Amino acid sequence: MREGNVEVISLDEAGEDAGQMARDVGACLAATPKDLSPWPKYFYDAEGSRLFEEITAQPEYYQTGAELSILRSLSDGIVARTRCRELVELGSGSASKTRALIDAMFNANDGPPRYVPLDVSGSALRESGGRLISEYPGLEIQGFIGDFDLSLGRLLGRPTDRNRLVAFLGGTIGNFTPEKRQEFLDTLRGGLRDGDRVLIGLDLVKDKRTLEAAYNDAAGVTARFNRNMIRVINHRLGTDLDPDLFSHRAIYDADRQRIEMWLHSEAEQTIHTPDLEAHFERGEGIRTEISTKFTPDSAARTFEEASLQLLDLYTDDRDLFALALGKAV
Ligand code: AVJ
Repeated sequence: MREGNVEVISLDEAGEDAGQMARDVGACLAATPKDLSPWPKYFYDAEGSRLFEEITAQPEYYQTGAELSILRSLSDGIVARTRCRELVELGSGSASKTRALIDAMFNANDGPPRYVPLDVSGSALRESGGRLISEYPGLEIQGFIGDFDLSLGRLLGRPTDRNRLVAFLGGTIGNFTPEKRQEFLDTLRGGLRDGDRVLIGLDLVKDKRTLEAAYNDAAGVTARFNRNMIRVINHRLGTDLDPDLFSHRAIYDADRQRIEMWLHSEAEQTIHTPDLEAHFERGEGIRTEISTKFTPDSAARTFEEASLQLLDLYTDDRDLFALALGKAV
């Protein structure tokens, strides 16, 4: 589909396959403890995406502001250093943080830049693409609908004559299990060519109080975001769990350096569908999300294990968040 300078191309079913979701969720609910954290993408239906945007506006949730402050002050330097003329953004969502990098690419005065977002939501791609085009008339946008599991390799394999900056912002890599993270970085690394660079947002280890407050905001938005997972399951799999019977917890595990979000069933509940059967004891928990936090050391190790060279770790002035710049070894 092409509208003006915005082209949107579908690479895969992007998690729209209800049968696949039933298998993923079924396996997670059969495990002990029940564990949905390997599937963070299922949080982000339209309501989940809206709730996440609302989380980023909560006073306790420091990540978005910290990352934006790094991008605002360092994008010109990053673009000058990487000499990139194509910005590939993985999981672009509303693309609100992307403007700093696009501004910097225009400032570099090296001809009109190209923006290549990948997102599971075609509507988010078209909306943010339309908005960006009206703000940056010279910008070329080629959006791809797809998810990381299926489409990242294909996206990076497309021919291009430009140096690319592949950005994965927002700390989303922290939501991957260690195995998924390794797989993701291996695929990313495998798709890089000479001259390409990666820019990955990482939330940093800090005191337990600050971390837990960010995932237990006073307005209860994160609790609603977490419970929305139950609605997504009901809606997509035809079950009838009562979201209000689940209570939200978010706890920082300092040994594993990660936040874990859980939903605890406050009553006994059972669901059956042709593909799925699950029983919840009263008080039983489901782990719904992990959000790993990094130190400069663990960031360097993570890059090294994926044969990526960490070129720089840019942080905000309060050391809350980091952007890791790297290239293939
Ligand atoms: C999508 C990685 C930015 O882990 O902090 C926010 C998702 N979950 N509150 C994070 C999330 C609960 C978020 N990121």
